[in-house]
Amino acid sequence: MLLLPLSVLLLLTQPWRSLGAEMTFYSQKTLANACTLVMCSPPEGGLPGRDGRDGREGPRGEKGDPGSPGLAGQAGMPGPAGPTGPKGDNGSAGEPGLKGDTGPPGPTGMPGPAGREGPSGRQGSTGPPGTPGPKGEPGPKGPAGAIGPQGSSGARGPPGLKGDRGTPGERGAKGESGLAEVNALRQRVGTLEGQLQSLQNAFSQYKKAVLFPDGRSVGEKIFKTAGSEKTFQDAQQVCTQAGGQLPSPRSAAENEALTQLATAQNKAAFLSMTDTRKEGTFIYPTGEPLVYSNWAPQEPNNDGGSENCVEIFPNGKWNDKVCGEQRLVICEF
Ligand code: GAL
Ligand code: CA
Repeated sequence: MLLLPLSVLLLLTQPWRSLGAEMTFYSQKTLANACTLVMCSPPEGGLPGRDGRDGREGPRGEKGDPGSPGLAGQAGMPGPAGPTGPKGDNGSAGEPGLKGDTGPPGPTGMPGPAGREGPSGRQGSTGPPGTPGPKGEPGPKGPAGAIGPQGSSGARGPPGLKGDRGTPGERGAKGESGLAEVNALRQRVGTLEGQLQSLQNAFSQYKKAVLFPDGRSVGEKIFKTAGSEKTFQDAQQVCTQAGGQLPSPRSAAENEALTQLATAQNKAAFLSMTDTRKEGTFIYPTGEPLVYSNWAPQEPNNDGGSENCVEIFPNGKWNDKVCGEQRLVICEF
C-alpha cells in the first residue's frame, strides 16, 4: 500500500526517461488507454494533494484488483468538468403533423382562352339592284315609209318615215379585253357621227327646198302658204287636213315670218285666234289667251259687231275681221 502512492509521486515529479521500469510496470495495467487518470489517496495525516489536471473522458476501464489498505489521507479536490463534447448528429425525422385547415379562397384567375369558332350565320337579305347594263345594239331597221306620190317625171318618191326604235339587243358576251371593246365602240361612234352629219346635210337641203319660196322656218315652227284665199272655216280645214293648223304667232319673230309670206303674196292672211266665245277676249284654238299681239291702231274694234276673226296685214299689223271674208291661207306646222 505504501509503495503504490510513492510510485505515483515519483511519476509526477520525475522525468519520463528515468522511469522506464515503472512505465513498463504500469503499461501492463493501462495498455488499452494510455491516458487513464490515476487518482492517489494521500497518506493519513499527510499533506493535501494537488488539484488534478483537466482530463478527457475515456472509456470505462476494467475493474482493478483490490489494493492493500493504506494510510488514510485527505482526499484531493476533484478536477473541473471537461469541455463540452462535440455536437451529436441530427436525430431522425419526426412523424408528419396533422393536416391543416382549408385556406381562404384565392384571387380571381386570368381570363380563359378564346372559345371555338361559332356556327355559320344565316343567309343575308337580297342586295341592292345592280348597275344598268351596257347599251344594247341598235334595233332593226324600221319599216319602209309610205310610197311617195308619183312625180311628173316619174322620179322616185321621198323616203319613208323613220321606223320606230327597235327593242334593245341582247347583251353580248364579255369581250376579251376592255380596250378591244372601247376601240369597237369608238369605231361605232365614228360611223354614227358620219351618218348623223349626212342626215343633217340632207335635212338642211330638204328644208330649203320645201320652204322655197312660200315657206318660213322659225324655231321649231314652219309656216307655209299655198297662195289660195279662203274663208276662216275653209282655211282652218285645209291646214288641219295637211296635218297643221292656222298660224298662232307667239312672238315678234314668228310674226315677222308670217309678214314675209303675206308681203310676198301681197295679201292679208287669217290667223288662228278668235273671240267668238267671249267678245273682246281673243284666244288660241286651245282656249289659251294671247301671249303676244300686234294689233293695228284702234284694233280690235269689232266693226259691225261681228268681227270675231283676226287677219295679219302685209305690214304685220293685226285687225279683227269678219270670219266669212276670204283671206290668204297660211298653215303652221
Ligand atoms: C276696216 C276694217 C274694220 C275696221 C275699220 C276701221 O277697214 O275692215 O275691221 O277696223 O276698218 O275703220
Ligand atoms: Ca276691225
